[in-house]
Amino acid sequence: MAEPHRVPVMRTALVTGATSGIGYAFCRELAEQGHDLVIVARHRARLENVSDELRARYSVNVEILAADLSKRVQLRRVADRVADRDRPIDLLVNNAGFVTSTSLLKGDLADEEAMLDVLCRAVLVLSHAGALSMRERGSGHIINVSSVVGFAPTSTYAAAKAWVTAFTETLAYELSGSGVSATALCPGFTRTEFHERANMDMSRLPKAMWLEADGLVRDCLNDVKAGKVISVPGVQYKVIAGVAQLVPNRLVRAVSGRVSSLRRPKR
Ligand SMILES: NC(=O)c1ccc[n+]([C@@H]2O[C@H](COP(=O)([O-])OP(=O)(O)OC[C@H]3O[C@@H](n4cnc5c(N)ncnc54)[C@H](OP(=O)(O)O)[C@@H]3O)[C@@H](O)[C@H]2O)c1
Repeated sequence: MAEPHRVPVMRTALVTGATSGIGYAFCRELAEQGHDLVIVARHRARLENVSDELRARYSVNVEILAADLSKRVQLRRVADRVADRDRPIDLLVNNAGFVTSTSLLKGDLADEEAMLDVLCRAVLVLSHAGALSMRERGSGHIINVSSVVGFAPTSTYAAAKAWVTAFTETLAYELSGSGVSATALCPGFTRTEFHERANMDMSRLPKAMWLEADGLVRDCLNDVKAGKVISVPGVQYKVIAGVAQLVPNRLVRAVSGRVSSLRRPKR
């Protein structure tokens, strides 16, 4: 008789960027499903608020790790927690991220380097720690939050997300047959603090382009259970991502550039 499709039991999840937006939505959904959590972000007071709320509402254990993932020593502390054999992490969500408020040639190179450290270097280091310990146990999941803009890069942020998607595909390939999965979540525009933090005016973006964090997180977790390597939430973005793979890159970049120009710095 064929083995029934098993939904793996995931006991403890570590989520970076857990205090706001998509990361916070992951925490609520995972806590509701009964996972204990390790939550990571820079600001301890906000981590404590999230932790108090999750404990009170879902009766789960929550551990706080305050860390700036652009700083190597602090990132190493988080990687050591991910690798801890005595307190295994079953699901790693590399979600923390931000976008610089100006383009490469108008901005400060140090800001670009910090963005790359959080969007790419932290994802590399934590995925490495997570994949090694999960592979040893023969089970686990890694979700790397990328972006649909990675399919058509017209900014250094989008180029970094293109790396996250390609890296996750590579990781999934290397992990095949190990019992461990890797999924790149590629959302489109999502209502969070992300654009406000970058001081962007988003008022010209059509309503139909906006996603809600709670819904996309549920879609992503279903995609993980289904074994998908790339998760693109929302019908509108599934269509855009599908078309982007069929038409010439030059055309995709031209359209992507026009959509990106709908956001502009606030005056
Ligand atoms: N919103 C969108 O339209 C959208 C679309 C596609 C992809 N994404 C991606 O989704 C992910 C989550 O973004 P979001 O929209 O949920 O943004 P958000 O609401 O601004 O949340 C960002 C989270 O990351 C944390 N964070 C930022 N810099 C950090 C650092 N240096 N070290 C540790 N934690 C840091 C923040 O907490 P602290 O400030 O306390 O550190 C916060 O918890 C990002 O990777 C983003 O690129 C967003």
